Amino acid sequence: MKNKEKRIETAMIHNDEKTGKYDGSLTTPIFQTSTFSFSSAAEGERRFAGEEEGYIYTRLGNPTVRTLENRIATLEGGDRGLAFASGMAAVSAVLIALTKAGDHVLCSNGLYGCTYGLLKMFEEKYAITHDFSYMETEEDVKAKITPDTRCIFIETPINPTMKIIDLAMVARVAKEHGIPVVVDNTFCTPYLQRPLDLGCDIVLHSATKYIGGHGDVIAGLVVGKKEFMDDLAMAQQKDIGGVLSPFDAWLLLRGLKTLHVRMDRHSINALDLAKRLDNHPKVKHVYYPGMEGNEQFNIVEKQMKTGGGVLAFEIEGGKKEAQQFMDRLHLIQIAVSLGDAETLIQHPATMTHAVVPEEKRQEMGITDTLIRLSAGLESVEDIWEDLNQSLEEG
Ligand SMILES: Cc1ncc(COP(=O)(O)O)c(C=O)c1O
Repeated sequence: MKNKEKRIETAMIHNDEKTGKYDGSLTTPIFQTSTFSFSSAAEGERRFAGEEEGYIYTRLGNPTVRTLENRIATLEGGDRGLAFASGMAAVSAVLIALTKAGDHVLCSNGLYGCTYGLLKMFEEKYAITHDFSYMETEEDVKAKITPDTRCIFIETPINPTMKIIDLAMVARVAKEHGIPVVVDNTFCTPYLQRPLDLGCDIVLHSATKYIGGHGDVIAGLVVGKKEFMDDLAMAQQKDIGGVLSPFDAWLLLRGLKTLHVRMDRHSINALDLAKRLDNHPKVKHVYYPGMEGNEQFNIVEKQMKTGGGVLAFEIEGGKKEAQQFMDRLHLIQIAVSLGDAETLIQHPATMTHAVVPEEKRQEMGITDTLIRLSAGLESVEDIWEDLNQSLEEG
């Protein structure tokens, strides 16, 4: 049975490699090597010429990394996957591959702060402009497409405001204009959302988050069609070089084996916390699209398995009150990142999105009392007691 025929929970765990490969080792070995020796000069020549399959040098490919790349390609339903040294290495590789000086990128109205920073840098250095849109309707998308638009770049849910974008609808409009749609699927993973099935073209991840799952690795992944991915490997990986190490690839393979179990629990905890926060008199607003009553719940039902493990909320007051609320927590860790076993809380306005200018932040809905919480795998009662005692004391 090939991986493509397995259900997603099984495909996360099993290699498509033959049993017995690598002396029967159950887990993929870590090929901690920078280079690979050739049996002859002629073999080296053939490999460099692309006439023969085989490894050359770890920046160009490595068996541990390749196993991970094949695994994520299967899980996302794409032709080929590539692993990068960080989520930002993946984001930058894709954006560099799709654009040249003078082009335009249409983005979701809300992006991870460093993706925003990268686009600002593109604008200043290469006159690659960008626009933002909530893409609520086909007309919204069409209105922001220009003759120079070379890519639509979407986060959904948007970090950190948790707004949702209808991927099938955007993909439909983009197809009419011949523009590729890139989805940052970090918050969902292929277990909750498969953008390629919805008509999008490229999917990428900060695998640092749920895919790694244990807060011990920085990594990025990209999946797409063969032609684009082959170009990405040659131009971005070979020549720019932000590749993943074999050990880090091994950590991600290990993380993937439990991803579905963890995502289910993260989602259950997040929904429970969202409901309790929503009922607390000191909480002004809760942003969790997977909660019934949320205005975008219908899109969640259509394209996601659950609402995921991240939520955001606002309390009364300003920056001072938000910071004091966080400082009163004991169990919950004040830290950026998400998708770890520990519940993490952060203040986007002064942390992950501090690079976004104040005016733009406000426009994106990142107020001074917006707090983002990544629900961990602890007992939800313990997480709630910690949140509640801090709310009560405030
Ligand atoms: C949605 C999203 N995309 C990309 C990144 C960047 O990933 P990394 O930190 O692995 O470079 C992050 C990091 O927080 C993120 O949240």
